[in-house]
Amino acid sequence: MEQIHPDITDVLLNEDDIKEIVLCMGNQITADYEGKNPLIVAVLRGAFMFTADLMRAIQTDCGVDFMAVSSYGDGAKSSGVVRIIKDLDTKIEGRDVIIAEDILDSGLTLSYLIKALSARHPKSIEIAAFLEKDIKGKRPAVTPRYVGAHVPDAFVVGYGLDFAECYRNLPYIGVLKPEVYS
Ligand code: PRP
Ligand code: MN
Ligand code: MG
Repeated sequence: MEQIHPDITDVLLNEDDIKEIVLCMGNQITADYEGKNPLIVAVLRGAFMFTADLMRAIQTDCGVDFMAVSSYGDGAKSSGVVRIIKDLDTKIEGRDVIIAEDILDSGLTLSYLIKALSARHPKSIEIAAFLEKDIKGKRPAVTPRYVGAHVPDAFVVGYGLDFAECYRNLPYIGVLKPEVYS
């Protein structure tokens, strides 16, 4: 049995689940972008692990670049403000862009990114979200073309996702014990 971190109550997706989800998404992207050489934009830091796995599952030419944004900082709630910490080095004008995000939560990060990147006139822009959180209430209109899995409204960490820069290394998606962040 694999060792579960003591701060985790529940494992939502184990390593095999993750592999299957990413492989399936890679196949869909391969079919949709054959010959288009899309640019995968990884949203640091959370999406680094997902992006690395997704790239390996895409079986057609594609590029990668990185953007670092942050809205949560060290807290458990979004600050409501998205800050660009590192911008792309690649020109995206006329390019098919796929934003690779680890999780769509309030939608703030992705709605901000879509707006910011659309202004640079890419040929197309789509979202590949590993997770989408099922939240009550409305969020900005962001519709990912690819969603790996839905998760309940709990604080999830692992596979790149952090709380206060911890737990990113966990190879699974787990629910953090509320006493850790409250
Ligand atoms: C997290 C997560 C997503 C975003 C989702 O990033 O990785 O990027 O929040 O939340 P939202 O839909 O409510 O905007 P965070 O700001 O914690 O930065 P990080 O990726 O460096 O952890
Ligand atoms: Mn993030
Ligand atoms: Mg974070």
